Amino acid sequence: MSSTIDVSGRLAVRPLTPKLGAEISGVTLADGVPDDVFRAIYAAFLRYQVLLFPPQDLPPARQVAFGRQFGEVQVHVMSQYHADGHPELYRLSNLDANGNPTGHHPDRGTLAWHTDGSWQRVTGQATIIYGEIVPEIGGETHFCDMYGAYERLDASWKARIAGLRAVHNLDFSRTRRHGEDPMTEEQKRAKPPVDHPIVRTHPETGRKCLYLGDHAEYILGMPYDEGRVLIEELNALAVHSDLTYEHRWKAGELLVWDNRCVMHRATAYDPATQRRVVRRCTVLGEVPV
Ligand SMILES: [Fe+2]
Repeated sequence: MSSTIDVSGRLAVRPLTPKLGAEISGVTLADGVPDDVFRAIYAAFLRYQVLLFPPQDLPPARQVAFGRQFGEVQVHVMSQYHADGHPELYRLSNLDANGNPTGHHPDRGTLAWHTDGSWQRVTGQATIIYGEIVPEIGGETHFCDMYGAYERLDASWKARIAGLRAVHNLDFSRTRRHGEDPMTEEQKRAKPPVDHPIVRTHPETGRKCLYLGDHAEYILGMPYDEGRVLIEELNALAVHSDLTYEHRWKAGELLVWDNRCVMHRATAYDPATQRRVVRRCTVLGEVPV
């Protein structure tokens, strides 16, 4: 891969693929990130869409502090996942109180391509995940570039979807598609379905990208089944092997990605024999346009 770029001697940026992803080294996140270093990190975030920080100790409070440098940190509606007294962190773990695998996958919804927080009016900007314990087999995180996904649609596809809006619904993706840990009635009331454009313009880069994923249920103004077919077709068309980064975790790594222009998914692992504990912080972005 391309050689490392040194940024003012403060950090180094090494692209992970020709299009998507970069490793950021030279930053000890637990010490706090000075503003000038954060500006360089943020520029890399906009350029590479996915950032990887090499293994390091990162206490929960420091992860939240780093998240706050990106913007307002979300407190997730699914309160059963809140971690360590930090409601800003969402912990996914398959371990019991003794640290043994339970055999239960904590969130099967993560196995489908999606973008975090698309089920809210104000959607997710950055997601920041720290790998406390990672499995030896499986449990990878994959990313695909949604700028590239839009650019590669042919003119007839672009014309067909121009102006369309999809309704995103956490109850659909979580309760009806996967059926585990369904949302309570109170959680459903707190997060009703919302509609967003299928093609959004990134508010900072000004580039167009596809905006769908597994939370998208149907298309406004289109028969339900027809909309479902269109969404599934576009979700599949969005993934190109040369526009994808597949990350195999090492413990202590941190990944940051831009939900406005990538989709991601986790790969399966055996929750009866493997151990996986990750903590996630999601930064709120804006209403997509
Ligand atoms: Fe996610």
